[in-house]
Amino acid sequence: METVLRVADLRKLFPAKRSSLFKRKRQFIHAVDGVTFEVKKGETFGIVGESGCGKTTLARLILRLVEPASGKVFFKDQDITSLNRSEMKRLRRQMQMIFQDPYSSLDPRKNILNIVAEPLRVHNIAKEGSIIKEKVREALELVDLPASESFLAKMPDELSGGERQRAGVARTLILGAEFIIADEPVSMLDANVKAGVTSLMMGLKQKIGLTYIFITHEISLAYYICDRIAVMYLGKIVELGNAVEIVNLPLHPYTRLLMEAVPPLRPDDKWGATISERGELPLFIEPPSGCRFHPRCSRAQDICKVEEPELVEVRGGHYVACHYKNSS
Ligand SMILES: Nc1ncnc2c1ncn2[C@@H]1O[C@H](COP(=O)(O)OP(=O)(O)OP(=O)(O)O)[C@@H](O)[C@H]1O
Ligand SMILES: [Mg+2]
Repeated sequence: METVLRVADLRKLFPAKRSSLFKRKRQFIHAVDGVTFEVKKGETFGIVGESGCGKTTLARLILRLVEPASGKVFFKDQDITSLNRSEMKRLRRQMQMIFQDPYSSLDPRKNILNIVAEPLRVHNIAKEGSIIKEKVREALELVDLPASESFLAKMPDELSGGERQRAGVARTLILGAEFIIADEPVSMLDANVKAGVTSLMMGLKQKIGLTYIFITHEISLAYYICDRIAVMYLGKIVELGNAVEIVNLPLHPYTRLLMEAVPPLRPDDKWGATISERGELPLFIEPPSGCRFHPRCSRAQDICKVEEPELVEVRGGHYVACHYKNSS
């Protein structure tokens, strides 16, 4: 299968705020710390992890909305980290992002017509009003929103959360993008609306042949919609593989922790029955030594405190970064 995206050893550090006058050494938050993976054409690739583990920063690096400290991103074999501004702008027609918050991501002063049409204007694709309107109508139909004059004239605050997110998806699709990074696109929606928007996105994948990176902190959602899942912890991928295998045979203690935290949807579900006392993502600036998960790991041994485990393939396509990966 054709590789659409390849991320190679990507890193991004943010300078941490100095917390006291006595701390002279500059410290850095390792938001994304050596991430490598590939996404195949037509795939839904999930990125899962707790708040603050670097999911959004990784998405922004891939689209070059922020510059990496090191590492490379290849889109269809083209090294996009070396593109200039105008080349990058052209490429953005093919790579788009859907944001988490359907309330703040749509300009409240513009009507739906102008919001969905905006990328056409930014990229100078259509100038004539009637052509723009026709393209907006097509995009709205794709996301099951009405294409009537009255709907085009609506303002974002007249729409429900689900309708806003659909309008956001329409805007993403209007340029014909084929690769989409959806950053927690449904996490702020009510449960029933969430299912509708998720199935719409998956339907579009079949209908127009999209490739997705789907970011979520819910491993259960990733299981239902993703082909493969990468589990991130403090800026690193700790486990990667086929979604069914990751959920049924998790090898990393952190992946198991995420599984335990999932409330069961049905009594016969395989998820843990209760939300376990798993502690919060530790507040850190520089990551812990050795395996960065060791302070929270019940199985940690001496080696885990000093030596960082590499992400290695344990069986076809299933990767894990744990010193005790074979002793589960
Ligand atoms: N512009 C920035 N300046 C400084 N620190 C940042 C910046 N952006 C992100 N960070 C830090 O980098 C780390 C990763 O943040 P990021 O937003 O990528 O996490 P996330 O996994 O998307 O979290 P969430 O699930 O809450 O959206 C966090 O510690 C965050 O505070
Ligand atoms: Mg985020």
